[in-house]
Amino acid sequence: MTLTAAVRGISTRTLSSFLVPLAHRGSRCSPLPRYLSQTPITCASAKGPHPERHGKKAKLTEGVAEHAKEDPSKVTGVPQEPSTGPPPPPLAGRSTPDLFNLSGRTVIVTGGARGLGLTVAQALLECDANVAAVDLLPEPSEQEWPAAREIAEAKGLKLTYDQLDITNQEQVKSTFHRLFSSASSSAPVRGLFHAAGIQLLMPALNYTADQVRKIIDVNTTGSFLVSQAFAREFIERNKHLAVGAAEVLDGPGSHADGMNRLAGDQGASIVLTASMSGHVANYGLECAAYNASKAAVHTMAKCFAMEWSKKGIRINTLSPGYIRTAMTAALLEQRPDFNETWLKGSLLGRLSTQDEFRGPAIYLLSDASSFMTGADLLVDGGHTAT
Ligand SMILES: NC(=O)c1ccc[n+]([C@@H]2O[C@H](COP(=O)([O-])OP(=O)(O)OC[C@H]3O[C@@H](n4cnc5c(N)ncnc54)[C@H](O)[C@@H]3O)[C@@H](O)[C@H]2O)c1
Repeated sequence: MTLTAAVRGISTRTLSSFLVPLAHRGSRCSPLPRYLSQTPITCASAKGPHPERHGKKAKLTEGVAEHAKEDPSKVTGVPQEPSTGPPPPPLAGRSTPDLFNLSGRTVIVTGGARGLGLTVAQALLECDANVAAVDLLPEPSEQEWPAAREIAEAKGLKLTYDQLDITNQEQVKSTFHRLFSSASSSAPVRGLFHAAGIQLLMPALNYTADQVRKIIDVNTTGSFLVSQAFAREFIERNKHLAVGAAEVLDGPGSHADGMNRLAGDQGASIVLTASMSGHVANYGLECAAYNASKAAVHTMAKCFAMEWSKKGIRINTLSPGYIRTAMTAALLEQRPDFNETWLKGSLLGRLSTQDEFRGPAIYLLSDASSFMTGADLLVDGGHTAT
């Protein structure tokens, strides 16, 4: 049977039920909510039926183009926008570079005395945030801190340093309370970059219970305590940001309203530094307790995200691959052969530098990552890809 014969055998009713949706799809313009169609969409096929192509078939699409027939001025084919619709999306009207700007907020940085923490602290100052650095060390690195202080002074930003043991709940609680309370109302605390951590190289057969506990205490319990203290302070001060589940799910406009408050100008972002080691066993590197402690950080961030994302806090983990820092320098001193083993595993053929985590950290802390929570950002030079 030829195609024409086949079509002849089909009733008009059946044919229209097939063609009408096709014609609708062919218009390339489906009705969009206002917040999804900020830019006027021009749609050639909705400018009215083409005299030759649509002539007789226009009848078939009558139901679809009804609105265009009622008012010829509606040339886009998109239904008229209601005057009271959902508000624009959280980032509407902001330029892309502006999404990465952190002015008007204070970010707490743990492990801020040196290494990754201090590098990110500098990056935050470059992006106009005030920084409150904390660390177990009584003083920050003499080599690196002056550069951060210079940026802060040049920009008129606040940079503070406090000694803090992140495994001591009372200390963490009181320090965070003080940092939140002393932040100016023009730059409230709205971010936490948690970099404090320790590593221990040891065959799994040799660990004492205390050695395992120490690693878990600093890397896992410490991550828990700083996140908890941050969330308590932030949620207490920002009750207006809480979005009830019903509000998110029900009612026109309420979803966008809630998201505006969470992702827009007022929410907070927590970034917990985990590690690629939380995903895999590092080839040739015996550090089971460390890897376990970082895997726990991945999971706790997801759980926190589930509990706090509707209260104005996004929380994600950053998982670096090998970085040349004091931590890895100590390992390499112990086992110089690691350098070669690590390089072999890197698809980029090199280890990373602290600098290479400025971008990922700022992305996660800023509104550029407004739709990201409960996720892990793996930045490992391809180590875990093979
Ligand atoms: N260097 C790497 O290759 C690498 C790779 C993946 C993940 N990481 C993670 O990145 C983070 C930063 O590592 P780094 O290489 O900059 O290490 P680092 O040793 O240079 O810095 C860690 C900081 O944490 C602080 N600290 C340790 N225990 C603390 C405690 N109880 N309370 C408060 N501060 C404490 C230290 O004093 C130090 O300043 C760590 O969480 C580490 O596990 C590092």
